[in-house]
Amino acid sequence: MDVITRETRFNRVRSWILESGAYIRNKMNDPLTIDTKSKPKDLVTAMDRKVEFFFASKIKRYYPEHLLLGEEGYGDKITDSTGTIWVIDPIDGTMNFVHQKQNFAISVGIYEQGVGEIGFIYDVMNNNLYSAMKNNGAYKNDKRLKQLNENISLSKSIICLNHYWLSENRLVDEKIMHQLIKDVRGTRTYGSAALEFAYVAEGAADAYITMSLEPWDIAAGKIIVEEVGGITTNIAGEEIGMLDRTSILTCNPSIQSLLLKNYLLKAKK
Ligand code: 2AM
Ligand code: CA
Repeated sequence: MDVITRETRFNRVRSWILESGAYIRNKMNDPLTIDTKSKPKDLVTAMDRKVEFFFASKIKRYYPEHLLLGEEGYGDKITDSTGTIWVIDPIDGTMNFVHQKQNFAISVGIYEQGVGEIGFIYDVMNNNLYSAMKNNGAYKNDKRLKQLNENISLSKSIICLNHYWLSENRLVDEKIMHQLIKDVRGTRTYGSAALEFAYVAEGAADAYITMSLEPWDIAAGKIIVEEVGGITTNIAGEEIGMLDRTSILTCNPSIQSLLLKNYLLKAKK
């Protein structure tokens, strides 16, 4: 793709995201229509659907040859990573959107033949837009994010981790996870995977670990973290495909091998 096409695309997505964000903020105090999906904890609102539909319509109009993989079902049936695929979570952190009216994000990643090219994460209520173009660095609003090249130790690290993985569960041995939280400086749980990726990218957290995410939770974050020199794999240290439903370790590179070797590889069931 030439530079001008890529920049035009980047600017279009940016304006669509800002427009959706303003729409959400305006409607924030309207009554919510809330449904549950697969289980009572899995929430969806009319707003999730509306925002995804907005993007689906824009993509169809401006890029009819592109495909959309979206959480709420307005996208295409995608079986492989061929072509240009937009991976969208209209609201990442729906539980926060419903209960807190903050700490949720719009997440958009654009992949070409399986390779991440453009990523956006928009923290709607704080009006913070994280973005990246492959090989062009990552930004928070207009400020370029620094490379994660400082060596940090685990004892001085902050790790994002959902408390659920500290209770008995089918994916990891919680006792090893208990040891991990004793060994790090602190843990945080924000409830929006996209924002947790963004915090790793800006160095506000040093790692984000979770055991089960969908492609739309990961797509934009992986691109943004990569642009500051961070690494994203599953908890076995393996590369992730753009269509994978998978566990995630995304982090500052200086603590990656230690997190894998001493904790995650041992904890994995
Ligand atoms: P969502 O709000 O878009 O559903 C919550 O810890 C984070 O994990 C959110 O980013 C949430 O995305 C994501 N997540 C992915 N799969 C989930 C599931 N089955 N149940 C709850 N949260 C899930
Ligand atoms: Ca969502």
